[in-house]
Order: sequence, then structure tokens, then C-alpha cells
Amino acid sequence: MRSYKTTMVEPIRLLDREDREAALRDAGFNVFALDSADVFVDLLTDSGTGTMSNEQWAAMFTGDEAYAGSDSFRELEAAVRDVMGFERIVPAHQGRGAENVLYGALVDDGDVVLNNAHFDTTRAHVAANGGDPVDCPVPEARDGDSDHPFKGNFDVETARRVVDDVGAENVPVVVLTITNNSMAGQPVSVQNTREVAAFAQEIDATFVVDACRFAENAHFVQRREPEFADESVAAVAREQLSYADACVMSGKKDGLVNVGGFVGLRDDGELYQQCRQRGILYEGFSTYGGMSGRDLAAFAVGLREAVEPPYVAERVAQVEALCEALADRGIPVYQPAGGHAVYVNANEALPHLPREAFPGQAFVCELYREGGVRAVELGRFAFPETERDDLVRLAVPRRTYGPDHLEHVADTAAAVCEKGEAVTGYEVVSEPPMPELRHFSAELRPVDPAREPTSPQ
Ligand code: F0G
Repeated sequence: MRSYKTTMVEPIRLLDREDREAALRDAGFNVFALDSADVFVDLLTDSGTGTMSNEQWAAMFTGDEAYAGSDSFRELEAAVRDVMGFERIVPAHQGRGAENVLYGALVDDGDVVLNNAHFDTTRAHVAANGGDPVDCPVPEARDGDSDHPFKGNFDVETARRVVDDVGAENVPVVVLTITNNSMAGQPVSVQNTREVAAFAQEIDATFVVDACRFAENAHFVQRREPEFADESVAAVAREQLSYADACVMSGKKDGLVNVGGFVGLRDDGELYQQCRQRGILYEGFSTYGGMSGRDLAAFAVGLREAVEPPYVAERVAQVEALCEALADRGIPVYQPAGGHAVYVNANEALPHLPREAFPGQAFVCELYREGGVRAVELGRFAFPETERDDLVRLAVPRRTYGPDHLEHVADTAAAVCEKGEAVTGYEVVSEPPMPELRHFSAELRPVDPAREPTSPQ
């Protein structure tokens, strides 16, 4: 049962089927182009879409909007120190702003960056600085049936082989993403964090933790890593982050705010000075970094709430309940559930569709058509070169939907599976010049089931 009540409401409505059909057609069969007013249950992302607490709203009224030396910045700095253990922060408007600040300082032409799995924006920032992003997931990560407790872990053996190949001098950064968003939101153990830290030290690389979902990760550690069974989520989080030289944070996830981010650093040494200068250049002066005073104040409160029981246990339990509701209806889901999202395997759900016909996108369109539910494809449509399964992510916003909404999602997904071969595939009719950003703005059309699908031009 949720340990809070709702004291502000935002109406949502389910359009009738005809209007949903029209909205989908007008959106070019790309749910990023839908108006949110036309969406009933929005599981596109858990990023910046959550609900703030009354304490966070109250803090917003005290926001200090000073350009320099804002009180609200001091509050955020203190919260980061207490909750995450980083002495210094360089604020940024969101996670990718922080990535630009940090990776611009650390990565040069020809460098290799190792990560358990790069999130899209991390990959793009490494590449933008001339680096080569290399993923080192454990083999279990790609197995949606394995019950390994930490499928988000970093495979040090793979990383070692890469270093042997390219030379340690060309690997300046090792990143650990907790939880591992690109690997179905799976957690990373503290033991693995220690091993990665030791490896980074051995090759003289900076060890960065992408801490967007650090509280969800700490919850899994507390439940699944025996050494931490008696520790609090707050204590686990501090322990896990204590091994990192630096962190990048998106407040839109476990900061429980709608916007914001920062780079966390140990001291005011050279890396801090470099990041600070880059922060001023790209984000704003070093006591606001693209956030208003109000944003900083709400972020400071949100960070503390994220590790206070029972918040995160309830949050992850809700995601697990959705996973179970889907599995109970026979829908093929990646197991176990991630911390922030459930992933449906569209190749198994719609086996009649060949991969060229984008079964993941077909599933996404059908979820909207059947029940006004918005999800996101993370398969061949989003990542044209990928060999991985066509997964559909159902990301659950924090403290936002109730069990009835998630039942509706599970029923809708079951209705999609029941349609079976009546679900058509899709083809791309126009796409932007950057293939890595295709899924945000490409337009598609259903493939006429009477003819073979064509490849996009
Ligand atoms: N790192 C990870 C692991 C992320 O999941 C995200 C964002 C970012 C960095 C970038 O943060 O959005 O504040 O700029 N993930 C969102 C998602 C967008 O839907 O998974 P941001």
C-alpha cells in the first residue's frame, strides 16, 4: 500500500478509439509526436515525469534566485554531500548537460570509454568528444530469463581484453551506470562496483558512476546482496558511491524533480576546476547551472526523500507489480523487472512480424490504439544497427499512477497480444539525417499485409 495520499490531481482521459486512431495517424505512427493530452497512461519515460511531495513544493517557495551564491544551491550541495558523499558539485540543467561538462573534460580524440552499457546520451557525448564508447555488460544481461540478481553488472574480463587491445593509456574513463538503463534497468552490486573501481585504478582511469537511479539500485543491493541485508538504503547508496571519483546525475530520476542535474566530485582539484569552467560556459554560473533557485530547492529535498524509507521500496514494488501483471497475462517480459521499467519482448509477442517490419514499434502503436498507453521502442527502430531483441520499454513515473492504471496497461498489452497476426508491421517513410536520433522524429506507415515490407531508403 502506498504511504502517501494524493492532494493535487491532474485529469487524464481516454480518447475514443476513432480519435486514438486519428491521433496515431497524425503522429506518423511515432508516439513521440502525440500530444500528451491524447495519452491516457504515459509510460514513455520515468525522466522528469514523477510527482513531487508537499515538502518539495514548499521548498520551491523558498527558492533563492540569486545569480551567484544562491542559498538553494547551498541546500543542494549539502544534500549531495549527505546523501551521495560528493564534496563538490557542478550544477547542470539535466543529466546530459552534466555529461557534456564531464566527458568534455575527460575524453579526447581516439580515447576509449568503457561502461557496463552506455545510455544513448552518454554514448553521444563520448563520441562527440572523439571517443569510442565500448559496452562491457555481463553475459546474463542479454538473457531475459536468467535470474542472476545483478544483470546490470560490468564485466571486468571484457574490459580487460579491450584494454589489452588498445592500451591503458587510451582508456581515460571507466563508467558504471546504476541501474543499467540500457540493460533493462538491471542493478549493479556493490561487490562489482568495488571490482570496477579497482580495475579503473589499476589502469589509471577516472572512475565515474552514472548515478541517475542510485536509490533504486541501492534498494536492489539491500534486497539481493547478503552483505547489505541489514543496511539502510541510504547507507548502501553512500557505500556504493564512495568508490567513484566522480558521478553524473540526472535529477529527473532519483532526484525526484522535473528537471536538473550535476557532476559530483570529491574535491576542488583539477577536474573540478575544469568542469566548473565548462559548466559556466555551457550551463550557467556555478551556483545555478541552468536550474532556477526553485528547481535547486526542490532537488535538495527530493534527493533526501529518495533514500528515506519506504519511498524506494514502494516505487520498485510498483514496477514489479506491473511486470507480474503482464507475465500473468502471458506477455513475454524481461525478467526480473528493472527498477524503473518493464521491458516487453516484441519478437516473442508478435512472432509473425519480421525484424524489418519493426515489431517493437508495432507493439507500441498497438498499445496506444488499444488503450491510449504510450511506451517506447528500444529495438531496431531506435537503434538501426542493433542485433538485440526488439524490446518495448514501459517506464513507470515516480509516485504518479495507481494500481488501476497499471492494470489497464496490462489488460491493454494482453489485448495487443490477442490481436496476434492482425497486428501489421511498419516501414519508415521519412527520417532525420542523424540515424542515432531516428526514433524521436521519424515518420512511419503500416505495411500493407498483402505485400512484403520494404527497407527504409
Ligand atoms: N544517464 C542515464 C542512465 C539515463 O537514463 C539518462 C536519461 C541520462 C543519463 C540523461 O539524463 O535525460 O536528464 O539528460 N534517461 C531518460 C530515459 C531520458 O528515458 O531513460 P537527462
